[in-house]
Amino acid sequence: MKFFVDTADIDAIRELNDLGMVDGVTTNPSLILKSGRAIAEVTAEICAMVEGPVSAEVVAEKADDMIAEGRHLAKIAPNVCIKVPLTWDGLKACRVLSDEGHKLNVTLCFSPAQAILAAKAGATFISPFIGRLDDIHLDGMDLIADIREIYDNYGYETEILAASIRSVNHIVDAAKIGADVITAPPSVIKSMANHVLTDKGLAQFNADWAQTGQKIL
Ligand code: E4P
Repeated sequence: MKFFVDTADIDAIRELNDLGMVDGVTTNPSLILKSGRAIAEVTAEICAMVEGPVSAEVVAEKADDMIAEGRHLAKIAPNVCIKVPLTWDGLKACRVLSDEGHKLNVTLCFSPAQAILAAKAGATFISPFIGRLDDIHLDGMDLIADIREIYDNYGYETEILAASIRSVNHIVDAAKIGADVITAPPSVIKSMANHVLTDKGLAQFNADWAQTGQKIL
């Protein structure tokens, strides 16, 4: 499973990237706002640090405008992945930009039907939003499973990028279903290391070690 980091926070990306845990990065207009930086500047900095695809999202609503914005974003670095919304115009932009050889991440996917269209429009990644479905009391993980089944039925090469991840369980469940990629905030990725029995076991080892009176160094 590939790990993308869902942030435009350079320091947070660097910490995970230095551990070899970053296969890519996703940003969106809200994350750019949170960074407080210009999209071109922060995207260029992330692209220079990370080898894998770095999603940068268009904000236009009409296909022609999305295409122009996408071409502009793609000039920032060779590993920019153009992110377009799953609207009819977004699918048109996806087809054109994909045919030009760009990587495309089709975002804001909330149904299997939308995911089929994205695959047929040449998307490199489809981003189903798990957390936002859970927020309205639907099961986001069912969507991941449905898309996995459909894509496997037909051999679609579009990768399933499980997005809007809010918990470690989301990541584990997406992995069990066979999502190709997850994108999660750095805090969620780091919290995968936590376990209460690890903490308890370490406390016991430290207490016992203190009683030995020994030192390793
Ligand atoms: C990633 O591509 C998405 O923009 C992101 O995962 C959305 O997450 P959120 O629903 O927590 O904002």
